[in-house]
Amino acid sequence: MPIIVFASPKGGAGKSTSAVVLASELALRGAEVVIIDADPNRPVSSWAGRPGCPPTLTVLSDVAESSIIDEIEAAAARVPFVIVDLEGTASMTVAYAISRADLVIVPTQGSQLDAAEAVKAIRLIRQQERAFGRRIPYAVLLTRTSSAIRPRTLQHIRDEMARNEVPVLDTQMHEREAFRAIFSFGGALQGLGASQVSGVESAIRNAQAMTAEVVSLLKRTSEKMEALT
Ligand SMILES: Nc1ncnc2c1ncn2[C@@H]1O[C@H](COP(=O)(O)OP(=O)(O)OP(=O)(O)O)[C@@H](O)[C@H]1O
Ligand SMILES: [Mg+2]
Repeated sequence: MPIIVFASPKGGAGKSTSAVVLASELALRGAEVVIIDADPNRPVSSWAGRPGCPPTLTVLSDVAESSIIDEIEAAAARVPFVIVDLEGTASMTVAYAISRADLVIVPTQGSQLDAAEAVKAIRLIRQQERAFGRRIPYAVLLTRTSSAIRPRTLQHIRDEMARNEVPVLDTQMHEREAFRAIFSFGGALQGLGASQVSGVESAIRNAQAMTAEVVSLLKRTSEKMEALT
């Protein structure tokens, strides 16, 4: 426990990148982390196959629709953090993973078209809540945003989400070369040399802020859940 699921039917929304960044940060703090790579393209497994994967982080692949719930539950019984990376489509595997989540993170780029895809993910979360008779906390994570400018479209999307009571993390995953580079070189951001990639320090600060916000959100939601039961 807890189980954090990255979901969005939009391909390229930033699910795998954000999942790996969060998992690495947690692992570098000493936590045992399992990432369940439930995407048949196995992007997280390829990353973990390169050098530098933190020693307390394990990646499980070969996850099928029929086995995903068992895999998630078995991992959650063993380690304090289970992170699930899903493929960018709607499938039974996605629905099953969401049904087990303590927190679903919906990564979304800052355009209206991307936000519309995030809404589909949120609808699926709400359907799973009804189907399984349990609350499933979730939050949108804005990805690939500019660290320098705040475009009006992004503010408009935030306003619309606030009006519809869709929770959005304060921290955004900015567009940074370092977040791409970990998939080329392997390992965590901290292993990237400043001569290899620019802006590593800013990317690390961004990753740490995102991780801190996710951890505090998990704490708040688990307190709320306990109060409800
Ligand atoms: N914060 C970021 N900064 C820079 N590049 C990013 C960032 N997030 C994602 N990318 C890049 O965007 C592309 C898509 O990201 P990613 O693979 O994480 O998305 P995804 O939602 O997992 O996609 P899929 O649905 O295909 O699994 C990749 O090329 C990745 O390197
Ligand atoms: Mg992916």
